Amino acid sequence: MTQTKQAKESTMRAIALDRFGGPETLKVQTIPTPEPDADEILIHVESAGVGAWDPFEREGGFVEVLGQTPNFPYVLGTDGAGTVAAVGEDVKELKEGDRVYAAELGNPKGGFYAEYAVVKADNAALMPSGLSMDQAAVLPSDGLTALRGLEDVLSLEANESVMIFGASGGIGHLAVQLAKRLGARVFAVASGEDGVSFVKRLGADAAVDGRSDNVLDVARDFAPDGIDAALVTAGGEATDRALAALRPGGRVAYPNGVMPEPKAPKGVNTKAYDGEGGREAIDRLNELIEAGPFEVHVHQVFPLEQAAEAQAALEEHHLGKIALRVG
Ligand SMILES: NC(=O)c1ccc[n+]([C@@H]2O[C@H](COP(=O)([O-])OP(=O)(O)OC[C@H]3O[C@@H](n4cnc5c(N)ncnc54)[C@H](OP(=O)(O)O)[C@@H]3O)[C@@H](O)[C@H]2O)c1
Repeated sequence: MTQTKQAKESTMRAIALDRFGGPETLKVQTIPTPEPDADEILIHVESAGVGAWDPFEREGGFVEVLGQTPNFPYVLGTDGAGTVAAVGEDVKELKEGDRVYAAELGNPKGGFYAEYAVVKADNAALMPSGLSMDQAAVLPSDGLTALRGLEDVLSLEANESVMIFGASGGIGHLAVQLAKRLGARVFAVASGEDGVSFVKRLGADAAVDGRSDNVLDVARDFAPDGIDAALVTAGGEATDRALAALRPGGRVAYPNGVMPEPKAPKGVNTKAYDGEGGREAIDRLNELIEAGPFEVHVHQVFPLEQAAEAQAALEEHHLGKIALRVG
């Protein structure tokens, strides 16, 4: 036992799977509250992010890809926000009562669709100021994925042009704002008219509807010599056609999971990556977000017991993210 205090209940309500499968596996259960080890914190969760990848995890996809042996009852939820309820003895940077947000994938102690979650302290940070719990909850996985794609994979420089494909979605709407903050010129390919207005409001220099507009024509006006880089969050024929707007020697990044895998023209360097967390990355995300106004868009919030409805809503057209209110 490494907790400093017993600021928690021994059991908690959670959406816990007894087996992998369809939405019918998402049941509220009472299960033991996880215990933090020395380098971990226990979070009293108020809100959880509903990830585009959650149905894949629910069906057992992640344990297969990660080669893990699942612990049932299995709690979904890669990210969330709440208050620190206990800290392990080696944790120095966070303390009980701190309002934090965190992301951890494939956590054997369970995820955020629960009243309590344990994560490595290095995967958590104080919530950026001005965000609600729901906004903070949906931010870390997609925020880190946007940040790593733009800065670490594409090495985006100020004054370069960047296409964000899927710009009105979870990663996309954060990437539009982060890319602007890095000084880039942003060409946003959003979904629907509402998506186009949304990303323009977020600061995109040019925006098109990737489901209907002629992306290439608008892209050529935007960057007659071709776009320098692209962050792609949705795959398919429309994506591959849009990538013809990249200049020779341009760069494309896409997070693993985007299907079908994007195909860029010859002479364009394409890389798949993961939005890995860790202290340095989450601190960098906080710093960029706090440097000015920043919108984390929560399209809809569902109560914990409606996790199946929340996951079904992922399939419908929406802007930004979906949250699950736990507390
Ligand atoms: N490897 C990693 O570390 C990692 C981390 C996070 C996410 N991911 C993966 O990255 C992908 C994106 O995640 P996300 O959270 O951003 O998902 P998301 O919120 O579903 O975003 C994808 C967006 O692309 C839009 N879109 C689809 N086709 C389009 C088109 N032709 N033109 C313009 N927009 C189009 C969708 O619009 P609609 O609203 O119309 O559907 C949606 O807004 C998922 O596959 C996820 O699993 C991987």
